[in-house]
Amino acid sequence: MAASVSLPHSQPEPPAGLVYSRESFADVPLPEHAAAYPEFRYMGSKHRLLPWLHGVLRGLPFETAADPFAGSGCVAYLLKAMGKRVVASDFLNFPAVIAAGTIVNNHHQLDGPALSALLKKRRKGPNFIEKTFEGIFFSTGDLRFLDRVTANLELLPHPHQQDLARAALIRSCLKKQPRGVFTVSGDLSRYDDGRRDLRLTLEEHFLEQSAAFNQVIFDNGRQHTAKRADVFSLRPRGIDLVYLDPPYVPRADDNCYMKRYHFLEGLSCYWKGQTIMEDTKVKKIEKPYTPFSYRRTAVDAFDKLFRLYRESIIVLSYSSNGFPDREELEGLLRRYKTSVTAYERPHRYHFGTHQAVERATVNEYLIVGR
Ligand SMILES: C[S@@+](CC[C@H](N)C(=O)[O-])C[C@H]1O[C@@H](n2cnc3c(N)ncnc32)[C@H](O)[C@@H]1O
Repeated sequence: MAASVSLPHSQPEPPAGLVYSRESFADVPLPEHAAAYPEFRYMGSKHRLLPWLHGVLRGLPFETAADPFAGSGCVAYLLKAMGKRVVASDFLNFPAVIAAGTIVNNHHQLDGPALSALLKKRRKGPNFIEKTFEGIFFSTGDLRFLDRVTANLELLPHPHQQDLARAALIRSCLKKQPRGVFTVSGDLSRYDDGRRDLRLTLEEHFLEQSAAFNQVIFDNGRQHTAKRADVFSLRPRGIDLVYLDPPYVPRADDNCYMKRYHFLEGLSCYWKGQTIMEDTKVKKIEKPYTPFSYRRTAVDAFDKLFRLYRESIIVLSYSSNGFPDREELEGLLRRYKTSVTAYERPHRYHFGTHQAVERATVNEYLIVGR
């Protein structure tokens, strides 16, 4: 366990049972494999915080870990790389698909025959993506490629290979889309700063991403699960440790994942069962409700979340620009846990919004309840 460090005198003394630490764990190497996980340009991704997270997690006693807000999957993958059994979920489909392809999948890569099958030309194939998104996102050639490759997924013999191919496609689209968000559309030449990612075709991206995602496949000797589920629909059993990284209510703008990533959500299931809002410029999908998005419901949602996982060690990621604040969250956690340790470090998030690419420096917290 990390040594705890006192905060400067200007800070109030922590309440009894609460410990603060600014340990950086800079010298602790990441486990083999963990560093290979591709970074997704995803709002709130903890990819760059993985060494710090690993430093905290490695001191805790657990074999089975849940990540019910899996997002880009990098933390769930770190847990797999640490040798744990992983239960990953998210209320959006595409994070569940990424986790199925990279974490549940212990063996299946995109080998030569798989890639030939995926790239095969079709005489007559579906053209839903081209029809729906022509003039909105990507070039016609790119949209046709997405129609073709997703139709060819059924030619792959194993569902995990299909999930891995979808993960590679999702990252390709994120790299090629200016700012990595699907809120901007039409003539995007104003964002063209000559970057290679904007110049490659989606097919070229996909070939590169297939090679990158092949590197992440390994077997840690355990069976993992990934599914699409709202956290409050889960009935956790036998989870030694839960990593909680819900969205926080931001001071400005919003935290809607569907608004930014609806195209990836649709792509992950070829828009089957999704309701497109036809009157929107970018053909958005209706957003699912989450209580973590609103001030009036967030505090209750955290209380409910901690109660749901009261039998597990709770590791909560949080940041200083969120609501409720850290003290309130610690108070809620202490309803269910006798010992609470708060780790803190500065962090810079980069993410695109309508207005500009925001660069926010915040304090990132890991609050561990046992
Ligand atoms: C901050 S992100 C997680 C980032 C992730 N840890 C990573 O490093 O990429 C929060 C995630 O919570 C998901 N989410 C929001 N509300 C949810 C709910 N009620 N149940 C399950 N997932 C939810 C979002 O889809 C999003 O992927």
